[in-house]
Amino acid sequence: MRNSSFFLAALLSITGVTSQSSPNPIRFVYPNNVTGTLNATVALVPIPFSLARSIIPAKYGILTKAYESLLPGFPKDKYPLLVKGNLDHDVGLGSFILDDFQSLHIEYPFIDLLGDGYSCFLYAHHQFLTATAPLVIGGAAVYGTTVIPASFDPALEAYAYVKSSSGRKKEEIYFDTYTNSSTCPAVTMKFTPTSEHGWPFEYFMNVTNQPFFSNGSKCDNQRFYYNTTLSTGVNAPVGVKGEVTIEAPYLQATKSSDFGDIYGFKVDAAFVENNLLDCESLKGYSWNGNGKE
Ligand SMILES: *[C@@H]1O[C@H](CO)[C@@H](O)[C@H](O)[C@H]1NC(C)=O
Ligand SMILES: *[C@@H]1O[C@H](CO)[C@@H](O)[C@H](O)[C@H]1NC(C)=O
Ligand SMILES: *[C@@H]1O[C@H](CO)[C@@H](O)[C@H](O)[C@H]1NC(C)=O
Ligand SMILES: *[C@@H]1O[C@H](CO)[C@@H](O)[C@H](O)[C@H]1NC(C)=O
Ligand SMILES: *[C@@H]1O[C@H](CO)[C@@H](O)[C@H](O)[C@H]1NC(C)=O
Ligand SMILES: *[C@@H]1O[C@H](CO)[C@@H](O)[C@H](O)[C@H]1NC(C)=O
Repeated sequence: MRNSSFFLAALLSITGVTSQSSPNPIRFVYPNNVTGTLNATVALVPIPFSLARSIIPAKYGILTKAYESLLPGFPKDKYPLLVKGNLDHDVGLGSFILDDFQSLHIEYPFIDLLGDGYSCFLYAHHQFLTATAPLVIGGAAVYGTTVIPASFDPALEAYAYVKSSSGRKKEEIYFDTYTNSSTCPAVTMKFTPTSEHGWPFEYFMNVTNQPFFSNGSKCDNQRFYYNTTLSTGVNAPVGVKGEVTIEAPYLQATKSSDFGDIYGFKVDAAFVENNLLDCESLKGYSWNGNGKE
């Protein structure tokens, strides 16, 4: 959901499909803004820097020092791609709610969109969105993003648990993305909770709050609040380790890309979304949703 006018149109088509995810705790805190919840698995996928450079439009610099400062020891020849498998739940304005939908985002953080050498933006190249949510797809397309209508397994949940041979739920979770042209997933994510030291959660608070752009005409500022009951206490983020596969052409043009030993978090968070902003207005923007402005 990236556009208020599409959103307003969507208000006419409410049917109230809903999932296991917890309700949006901030709807009535910001009754005049689009708010929602994103129940997600977020992962840092190290890809060759040269591959990132070939995908991110050449006119934009990459703020290497910014991510190196947040990820000490990050390999020099790599770039931290952000992959997010999401359930958008309870997205609405005031008392109006959209049907739940899902998305898989392949995003390039730390882009110097404004050429000032410090303002970090997130470049969205491909975005997979629930094919049966045309208003949501239209809302993303206004940014010039390549939107790929998709379906997801599990349907309308943030992830599903892998069953063990005994039929019991295992800790392992998965989230698979299918395009309508294939019976094989275009993107798969499979993760298990880990106590290993992956990337710090603060890193993900930072990158998920970088304003989003695609062709650069307008920016979307989706502010994630990591201080609500959705992301704290029993719902605190859980570190995960696992595998991500991205089929061609969504990362490499002609080859499938398989990544192992990928670290991330499963986390649910409330958000406020401010659409179609002038990107210049976000110069120097810094917000990581920890309760401090
Ligand atoms: C996030 O989604 C998972 C999978 O559906 C669910 O088990 C979990 O309770 C959700 N998290 C919250 C905080 O609602
Ligand atoms: C809510 O929307 C208004 C008007 O677009 C904007 O000025 C304000 O910053 C938004 N609030 C939040 C918390 O993002
Ligand atoms: C970006 O995409 C939007 C939506 O398709 C379009 O209106 C706008 O003109 C595009 N801007 C550029 C610079 O291509
Ligand atoms: C598959 O998706 C394309 C757009 O990516 C769309 O034009 C086409 O109608 C879809 N086909 C089916 C069978 O849903
Ligand atoms: C993310 O980290 C960079 C580098 O430390 C910093 O410049 C930027 O302000 C941070 N952004 C957010 C949203 O916290
Ligand atoms: C969370 O952060 C926001 C923004 O700084 C603040 O307005 C709100 O009071 C905080 N909520 C909690 C529960 O601390």
